[in-house]
Amino acid sequence: MTQYQVVTGTEAVLRDGTIKLHGPAGFEGMRRAGRLAAEILDALVPHVQPGVSTQHLDDLVRQMTLDGGAVPATLGYRGYTHSCCISINHVVCHGIPSDKVLKDGDIVNIDVTPLLDGWHGDTSRMYLVGDVPLKARRLVDVTHECLMLGIEAASRPGARLGDIGAAIQAHAERQRYGVVREFCGHGLGRLFHDAPEVVHAARAGTGPELKPGMFFTIEPMINLGKPGVKVLEDGWTAVTRDRSLSAQFEHSIGITESGVEIFTKSPKGLDKPPY
Ligand code: MF3
Ligand code: CO
Ligand code: CO
Repeated sequence: MTQYQVVTGTEAVLRDGTIKLHGPAGFEGMRRAGRLAAEILDALVPHVQPGVSTQHLDDLVRQMTLDGGAVPATLGYRGYTHSCCISINHVVCHGIPSDKVLKDGDIVNIDVTPLLDGWHGDTSRMYLVGDVPLKARRLVDVTHECLMLGIEAASRPGARLGDIGAAIQAHAERQRYGVVREFCGHGLGRLFHDAPEVVHAARAGTGPELKPGMFFTIEPMINLGKPGVKVLEDGWTAVTRDRSLSAQFEHSIGITESGVEIFTKSPKGLDKPPY
C-alpha cells in the first residue's frame, strides 16, 4: 500500500518510503532551486565545445552553484566528489568529470543538482559538440520527446505513476531504441533521492496515483541499441553494454491540481539542442 505524507513547510523529512505531498512553501522552494539548476545548464551552452575538459565544466558548475547561493548536492554524496555528472556518448549516466576532453561529434549529458535553501533542483540536458551525425541527433531529439511525453502523461487527471513509463517506453521502442531499466526518476524535495521510484518503462494504469504536491524527477535514459547497461570499476560510470550511444534529459516536476509544474524549464528556452 502506498503511503503519502503531508509536508506543510520546510520541516525535515525522512527517507521512510512515504511519498511526500508538499504545499505552497515546497512549491516556492522547488521553483527557486529548479530555476537555478536550469540557469546553470543555460550558462554552460557556450562552454560545451570541442577541446574543453569535463573537469573544467564541473568547475564552472560548482562556481555557478555557489554563486547562486546553493551547494552541489552531489558533492560528498555517497562518496561522489564532483559537482555534476557528465556522460559522453555511450556513457548512460553518472559520468565522472575528469581531464577527458570533448571532441567534435560527441553527444554529452550534463546533470546538475543545486541544493538551495534546503530544496533540490535536479535537471539534465544533452549538448551537441560540433558536428553531430544525424542518427545521434535523432536519438537526442527522441529522448527529449520521451521526457515531454512522460510529463504529459503525468499531467492527465487521474494519472498513475506507471502511465509515465508507459508513454516513454512506447515512444522509444517505436524507434527501436532501448529504455534503460537500472536507473530511475525519483521523488525529491528536501531529500535528493526519495520515494517514489519513477521507472521509464512500465504498464499504463499501474502504480500509485499521482496527487497534488508530489515532487519527482523524470529522467529517461534511451539507448540507440539494446537497453542493457553496466557500471565500470570506478563504481559510478554506467555505460551501454553494447557500447551504443545513449541520451538522457531530466526535469524536476510538481503535481498540481490542474496538471504539472516543471521546476527546471530553461528561462532562455534552451531546453534541447540545437542551442
Ligand atoms: N543527478 C543524478 C540524478 O538525476 C544523481 C547523481 S548522484 C551522483 O538523480 F552522485 F552520481 F552525482
Ligand atoms: Co535525478
Ligand atoms: Co540528475
